[in-house]
Amino acid sequence: MTDATRDCLIAPSILSADFARLGEEVDNVLAAGADIVHFDVMDNHYVPNLTIGPLVCEALRKHGVTAPIDAHLMVKPVDRLIGDFIDAGATYITFHPEASDHIDRSLSLIRDGGCKSGLVFNPATPLSFLDYVMDKVDMVLLMSVNPGFGGQAFLPGTLDKLREARRRIDASDRDIRLEIDGGVKVDNIAEIARAGADTFVAGSAVFSAARDSDPHRYDSVIRAFREQLATAR
Ligand code: DX5
Ligand code: ZN
Repeated sequence: MTDATRDCLIAPSILSADFARLGEEVDNVLAAGADIVHFDVMDNHYVPNLTIGPLVCEALRKHGVTAPIDAHLMVKPVDRLIGDFIDAGATYITFHPEASDHIDRSLSLIRDGGCKSGLVFNPATPLSFLDYVMDKVDMVLLMSVNPGFGGQAFLPGTLDKLREARRRIDASDRDIRLEIDGGVKVDNIAEIARAGADTFVAGSAVFSAARDSDPHRYDSVIRAFREQLATAR
């Protein structure tokens, strides 16, 4: 697949949304043109922060959200929560290989539950975890910050890792998305796309955009992302 034909998807991370008005925030960001809802699950064990779980995912579905929900599990152990997120209506479920004792089994659990599966790579986690499971992943997610918090700076070494992940995905000839998570901003998204990413998580860059009574307040940042992505083709 060439850069020109790969479709780019924007996945705002609701970690930076206003949790007191979460349904409305998700509605607004989707109305502004976002493609995927990135849902960060932290357990204060695998990562030093505590966020939201399957009840909130289910609540968003009940609220009427039909867009794909991308559940990024930063939890250990993972398998029981995989089942809970399948039941809660997640579309993608991704987890960190270090957090599962049986990676192949965890990936299979996700697909057997009708969801799309993915592995997440911390900055220092080698891509070799993909070696024997390329046929079991629908998404490869590269962390461009250490997981746990929004608002951190993009680690530039991730660009070379993205190129290597893109090479592996293209060589596999499989339909696998390459997602990047952490420090994605309007001024670096084009470079990240040129390195091979096709799915872009952005938390603080989206939700710190002016919050006021205008329901279209996220339009300008999503539009700016798309304009930048167009230059990367
Ligand atoms: C970090 C999370 C990210 C985070 C990204 O552990 O996985 O999804 O919300 O936030 P920004 O875009 O602010 O770096
Ligand atoms: Zn994330």
